[in-house]
Amino acid sequence: MIESPLHCTLSTPEETAELATDIAGALGPGDCLLLEGPIGAGKTHFARHLIQSLQDHPEDVPSPTFTLVQTYDVPAAELWHADLYRLTSLDEVEELGLLSAFDDCITLIEWPDRLEELTPTHALHLTFSLDPDGEDARRLTLQWSDEKWLPLMERIFP
Ligand SMILES: Nc1ncnc2c1ncn2[C@@H]1O[C@H](COP(=O)(O)OP(=O)(O)OP(=O)(O)O)[C@@H](O)[C@H]1O
Ligand SMILES: [Mg+2]
Repeated sequence: MIESPLHCTLSTPEETAELATDIAGALGPGDCLLLEGPIGAGKTHFARHLIQSLQDHPEDVPSPTFTLVQTYDVPAAELWHADLYRLTSLDEVEELGLLSAFDDCITLIEWPDRLEELTPTHALHLTFSLDPDGEDARRLTLQWSDEKWLPLMERIFP
């Protein structure tokens, strides 16, 4: 049986977009992806392609750097894309409505370390890092504790 964590290399931005599209098709209400990694690692690139692949008419997907949250209506669910880099307090997590979104919506969260003890335990963690082998290569680690992610992981990494 496949086990957490899994590691892979994303050699180009296109490979990252392809993985995002593959994962997108499996998501529904209550699915949370925590996108970790340093500035420029590819978190927004991944989220943008994931969101656009779910839209009937792909729109611009701006980085939610200043708004903290952008929401989208896609056929599968309401989708929230958050960048918590500028979160000022844990109270703001509830004020933004994120706690209920974790259970009811698809949520994509950049800088999820800001959530501290509010981190949803049912989330899939994706940690992006730069790859010394090339400017356009990224390493990705996928981790989960909720078994609901197993079928998707087995399909993506057969
Ligand atoms: N293999 C790759 N996967 C993803 N992005 C890549 C890859 N190679 C190059 N890039 C480029 O790296 C940049 C990643 O920027 P992005 O805005 O996604 O970073 P981020 O992790 O969201 O940073 P921030 O913490 O500032 O929000 C993009 O310009 C993207 O085209
Ligand atoms: Mg970003």
